[in-house]
Amino acid sequence: MPLQNVTKPDSSLDEQVKRRRTFAIISHPDAGKTTLTEKLLMYGGAIRSSGTVKARKSHQYAKSDWMEVEKQRGISVASSVMQFEFQDCVINLLDTPGHQDFSEDTYRVLTAVDAALMVIDAAKGVEAQTIKLLEVCRLHRTPVITFINKMDREVREPLELIDEIEHILSIDCAPITWPIGMGKQFAGVFDIARDQMLKFTPGQDRIEIESEMIQGEEHPYLAEKFSLVHAVFKEELEVVREVMPPFDMTRFLAGALSPVFFGSAINNYGVQDILQALVDWAPSPRPREARQRSIAPDSATFTGIVFKIQANMDPHHRDRIAFLRICSGRYRPGLKAVHVRTHKTLRLDHAITFMAQERSHLMAACAGDIIGIPNHGRLRIGDVLTEGEHLDVDGIPHFSPELFRSVRLEDPLRIKQLNKALQELGEEGAIQVFHPLERTGLVLGAVGQLQFETVAHRLQSEYDIHVGFDKFQVHKALWVSAEDINELEHFENANRNRLARDASGALAFLAPTKAILQVTMDKWDEIIFSETREI
Ligand code: G4P
Repeated sequence: MPLQNVTKPDSSLDEQVKRRRTFAIISHPDAGKTTLTEKLLMYGGAIRSSGTVKARKSHQYAKSDWMEVEKQRGISVASSVMQFEFQDCVINLLDTPGHQDFSEDTYRVLTAVDAALMVIDAAKGVEAQTIKLLEVCRLHRTPVITFINKMDREVREPLELIDEIEHILSIDCAPITWPIGMGKQFAGVFDIARDQMLKFTPGQDRIEIESEMIQGEEHPYLAEKFSLVHAVFKEELEVVREVMPPFDMTRFLAGALSPVFFGSAINNYGVQDILQALVDWAPSPRPREARQRSIAPDSATFTGIVFKIQANMDPHHRDRIAFLRICSGRYRPGLKAVHVRTHKTLRLDHAITFMAQERSHLMAACAGDIIGIPNHGRLRIGDVLTEGEHLDVDGIPHFSPELFRSVRLEDPLRIKQLNKALQELGEEGAIQVFHPLERTGLVLGAVGQLQFETVAHRLQSEYDIHVGFDKFQVHKALWVSAEDINELEHFENANRNRLARDASGALAFLAPTKAILQVTMDKWDEIIFSETREI
């Protein structure tokens, strides 16, 4: 779907920036992320019917031009950016790749947003992938809105779910709506502050049934039609009102408290509440800290930071797309931007965005928006583009890998080429490359299995290098540092067999097991073991 020129040319930049809401949708696979995305797009008028996003998720790849790995596995390597308008806001929704295509990109997407929408399956509660993603949100103090989905099924007790979110994810919950019953007895969700609810009519749009608003928890409709669940609901509501914290904007913006909504995405229920929360509560683009100064989003000059590189999305184009978050100013075709790392000037003519699978050229974009810049490998993750000023921006970290492979070269004579290729792929952020201090050969680290397959494919197609991978027993790699340089040297000498340098030369401890990691951390208490490393 072509992207409209949503940046009105006559309005001030400040006004445009304030309209932006840029958020990522996160969940464990199968919680309902795709379904909710689709419904959000429907409410935003970006798609007309269900099935569009879903089809993209499942079988449309057979027809598409995406890279071979995707075709074989029928999954998406790309994480998409979808833009639509709702009320007076321009909403940028970033998908976070899940399933087998979970990779460092999934984490990096979270560095490019101002808020996150967390989808929880009410039958399953907090699951592994959500825990990992929330850790990254916490690192960046990203405000999180929670949607507890699938209330039309027999699910877990809502109070138990809230308790689990608070304890496992270490975030306070402020329920905004509360469910009345569940499964076949699901009567709807009650808006706690407004003291009202809409009747739940499966499959219907809430907008269309506004006339069926029910005021007050004692309403006869509830007492008569849902007598079985009504009493339980009233008890729960009392607990919620007494015990749970009210919504607090300051704590929400600091990432300490999450407003919680219940609903059923597939039945459109609660979707409107989420959109309203995004518009009313999610922050508009906030200033970014560069080492030299703070970058205000409404400052007139353009600044952008690359947070993701997508290689070979389309074999016909043989290009790479650098996904860039605009931190300040506006993009317009022809913009001359300085690539801060190389001091070269780039003319940005063909920035693109993605809707479903179509590429479309953007006519304008402003701070808060995400643009894709086709290039031939010049741009890397963490790169900054400005209109001339030298700005260094932190904030796109490498994440501690959890999967490791050693590289087996089919033709040993091509070792030099392999080292160079992996250096490039490592710098680009496709994979993490470790050079063990006391062992020949390279170790690759990833957070998702697909990263290895992507790298093998790219080594073959872009560098003509054929490799195989062998399992390498490492539990976790953590970067090490110390305030006292002598202490670090001491540590390095004592642990050389478990240390490696990454593509940037930073020292990492490759812990073979959890127990060894714990023992080492206990023994070397002046060494700092880090889960992330800033690029
Ligand atoms: P994901 O992107 O997070 O992986 O989840 P997705 O939206 O694909 O949803 C996973 C499954 O949960 C789908 O069923 C979807 O229809 C179902 N689902 C999503 N929201 C709700 C809800 O509110 N209520 C109920 N009962 N189910 C919901 P599926 O059988 O795997 O796929 P499909 O055949 O329905 O497409």
